[in-house]
Order: sequence, then C-alpha cells, then structure tokens
Amino acid sequence: MSHAPLTTLPQWQALKQHFATIGTKHLRELFAADAQRGKQLTVEDVGLYLDYSKQRVDADTLRLLRELAEACELPQRIEAMFRGDKINSTEGRAVLHVALRAPTTEKILVDGHDVEPDVHEVLDRMAAFSERVRSGAWVGHTGKRIRNVISIGIGGSDLGPVMAYEALRDYSRRDMTFRFVSNVDGTDFAEAVRDLDAAETMFIICSKTFTTLETLTNAHAARAWSVAALGDESAVAKHFVAVSTNAEGVAKFGIDTANMFGFWDWVGGRYSMDSSIGLSTMLAIGADGFREMLAGFHAMDEHFRHTSLERNLPALMGLLAIWNNNFLDAATVAVLPYEQYLKRFPAYLQQLTMESNGKHVTLDGKMVDYNTGPIYWGEPGTNGQHSFYQLIHQGTRIVPCDFIGFGQTLNPLPAQGGGDQHDLLMANLIAQGEALAFGKTAEEVRAEGTPEALVPHRTFEGNRPSNTILAAKLTPHVLGTLIALYEHSVFVQGTIWDIDSFDQWGVELGKQLAKTTIVELTAKDEPKLSHDSSTNALIHRYRQLRDGKIPESS
Ligand code: F6P
Repeated sequence: MSHAPLTTLPQWQALKQHFATIGTKHLRELFAADAQRGKQLTVEDVGLYLDYSKQRVDADTLRLLRELAEACELPQRIEAMFRGDKINSTEGRAVLHVALRAPTTEKILVDGHDVEPDVHEVLDRMAAFSERVRSGAWVGHTGKRIRNVISIGIGGSDLGPVMAYEALRDYSRRDMTFRFVSNVDGTDFAEAVRDLDAAETMFIICSKTFTTLETLTNAHAARAWSVAALGDESAVAKHFVAVSTNAEGVAKFGIDTANMFGFWDWVGGRYSMDSSIGLSTMLAIGADGFREMLAGFHAMDEHFRHTSLERNLPALMGLLAIWNNNFLDAATVAVLPYEQYLKRFPAYLQQLTMESNGKHVTLDGKMVDYNTGPIYWGEPGTNGQHSFYQLIHQGTRIVPCDFIGFGQTLNPLPAQGGGDQHDLLMANLIAQGEALAFGKTAEEVRAEGTPEALVPHRTFEGNRPSNTILAAKLTPHVLGTLIALYEHSVFVQGTIWDIDSFDQWGVELGKQLAKTTIVELTAKDEPKLSHDSSTNALIHRYRQLRDGKIPESS
C-alpha cells in the first residue's frame, strides 16, 4: 500500500535542501568541475547507452534520489510487480506485462496459477495464424489471399501496434498493406478502406474489453463494408479475427471465438502490445521478428529487476524525471527520436506515461501535495528543430529532452559533400544536446561582432537538461528494450509519487456524459436540455449546423 507521505520523508526534504545549492548551478560549472563527467554519468546495458551527464545533477543528487527510491521501497515494489502481486490496487489486479515476454522456463503465478503456459499457447497460435496469412494458405471468402490487414482498436489497443508497425516497417512484408483505424470519426475508416479490395482484406478487431464505443462502431462499419462487397454474411469468418479478454463480447459481435486471440486482465491496455494485441505486428514482421522484439523487452525486464539502482537504466531515467518534474519544476518532457521510423513513438509514450501517471491521489486515496506525471510530447528530429525547438532553447520554461539516436541507419544515403545523410542527422542530435546544455554567453555573442542591441536576442542561457539514448541500430530487439525502458521508468515515477500507475479512472466521466449527449444530438425533436449554459448552447448549435439551419457562410 501507500508509503509515508512523500513530502514528509527526510529523503525528500534532503533533496529540497540540496536543490537550494545545486539548483542554481549551471551545467557549464558541473562539466568544468569534472572532466570525466561526460563518461561517468552514463550507463550501458542490454544494447542501450544512456548519457545523463547533461542533467542538472551531481553525485549528491544521484545519491539522494537513490535514497528516496529506497525510502519509497522501490526495490520491494519491483519485486512485487514481477511476483504477480495485485499492485494495481484500485482494480484489484496484478500487473504482469513482464509475463508476456518471459521465457517458458519462468513460472509466474496469478492467484496460484502459472500464466506462462497460457502466454506461450497464445503466442504459438498467433505464430501459426500469421504464418498461414503470410504464406497465402489462409484465403478470403472468394479464395483470394489476404494482402491487406486493418487493425481496428483505440488507445492501448492501437497506439502500440501502430508505433511498432511504423518502427519496424523495414522488417515488414512489403507486399502487404497494414493500416490502423482508431477514431470514431468515420473518415478514419473510410480513408483506410477506400482503395482496398474487400476480398483481400482482413480486419483484426482489437479491444481488451470489447465494449469500447469507437472500436465496436468501427468494427460494425468494417463488417458492413465487407459483407456489402462480398455479398455474404458468412464472409465474416474469413475476414475478421478478434483480440480480446472478452470471449462473450466477441461471440456476440459475430466473430467465431476460434478466430479469437485472448489475453488477460493483468495486462493493462497501454502495456499490451506484446500480447495478442500485437497480432498486426507479428503479421507484418513475422513470428521470429516478434519473438526477437519480446526478447528485447525481456532483456530490459531482467536488467530492471536485477541491476543495482546506480546502474539501473529505468530507475535512473525515472529518478531523473522526478528531479526535473518536482525540483526543477519542469511540466513537460520532449521525446525526440532522431529516427524517422520512430515517428509514432512520442504518441505511443503519451498514453503510456500520461494515462499511467496522470493521477491526483495516492494509493490510499489522499490528495497529493506535489506534481505527478508531466506532459509528454515530441516529434522526430530534425523536423522539430524547425518548429518548436526555439522555445526549448530560449523560452522561459524548462523542457527536459530525451534524444534517441542510432549508430547505423536502415537506409544509407550518400550525402552531398561526403559521408551519409545519417551523419548529418546524428550531427544534429549531438549538437542540440550540446547547445541546450551549454548555450552561448553574451560575451561569446559579442565576440562574434554582434551589434549590442541584438546581443540579448542571440544569447542562449543553456542549462537545459537532456538525456541521450543511443543504440547500434533500430531492430525489433532494440525496440523492445527501448519501450521496456520507458515502461519501467513510468513505474519508478509512479512508485515515488505513490500513485496507481495502472488504472485510468479519469477517462470515464467524459465517456459517460457522451452517452447522454448522443441521445440529445440524435433526438428527433429539439431536446429539453439541463446542462450548463455552454453545453446546452453547443448541443443546440451543433444540431442547427448539422441540419443546415445555419447557412454555411453566416
Ligand atoms: O479509454 C481508455 C482506455 O480504456 C484505455 O486504457 C485503453 O487502452 C483503451 O481505452 C481501449 O480499451 P479496449 O482495449 O478495452 O477497447
């Protein structure tokens, strides 16, 4: 359950005091004080290299953060998660995404039942199914092979699969088309199918609960589209498979549960891309590639579980995030992959981090008196450099950045003037971290002959913290380690903040209210409204606009 109130812990108080001295120190001073800093404040394991020397910390900060982690019982909480304790206390559930990537030799018990055989049974079924589809052995209703796969889901049943597909596109079957539909906005579905032949198209309906409005609405649209094109309700059997924990819901929708791939309530939606929710990933990169990705996740799980806090990548990332959020008062984190294939990684991380740690009460239900989860956002480099980096460099807010880059590109292209375009990309990554940390003083600007009036504009304060994460090459294995790094870092932060990182009650209210609103929007006669005046007026205005009662140009 809850640990002692965070801000009353002596370790928290010690960090506060420490901040009074280090908070004003510039990274220039920290680097000047220790010539080895750029080598020392790094950790390398399981194929990832983390340089956190450009964080505004010193050896004392790191020690105090580790002491805080001990006081918050982080090591015990890690064990509790891996053991299958019901650490998602508000839902009374175990949190065992780590079981999805553990080898068969491991035994992980939930209520006394070993879940590993179940996990591997589903993985084997997924592999057999994927092989049939990829080889053309599985044919559609008219006998044509399946060339298009459309995964329908939302939130955790979509963001992981989309991100993984984009990230691993280089390893994917190029003669197959993969698309993802999530939004209840009909445009999403319409655009996904407009150029496809229904006879060659398979839908994977992904929903943990199989009750989600958006997914079921799109699934019905998909069924109507397929049946209309193929002329027969029986086509559903060949063109629809489901991924869910709710067999009853799947059967009710009309998908044979023989074509269903299950998972379990101890897998959170945003932690589910390694479960059968990743079926589209497996179809794209094959079962071997998928298992390679799982091995990457597992390598990071093992690292997280067995490495001392000093050298523990997710623990370090999590504790540095606490430092930036609660002591430097940074409200957001920018995730900046210098790898085009990771273009959906920031969006994926938004759900992982913000649905997990966007909480305002402790495990015991007490209101927190400190900030919890920051806002995560980002875009691939170098694109972001030409839009929002200005604010990161010279704005009034601190935005800690995570730079992610690779030694080798999957698409070497010779650059004009020598080298590869990849060198240009990585030169930018490295230069951005340097510029953010060290900036440019007024004296340096003056020394360049800058007119005095422009000096303040061209001065860079620097002292802006960042992590740099490097790996050799983006492979399924490396992707797994990278995602698990963030998963566990989120867990570390939630443990310190003493919140339940695995529930998501905050998404319920809007969903409930929408149920009333839809009745009011679709009522034949003008409904009697009893909301606040803004909501009433919006409902009224929408009805008028929809019904053409307000001319388009007015
Ligand atoms: O509304 C939020 C949420 O419950 C997420 O936590 C989840 O990933 C998503 O909806 C989709 O849920 P499901 O997989 O049950 O359709």
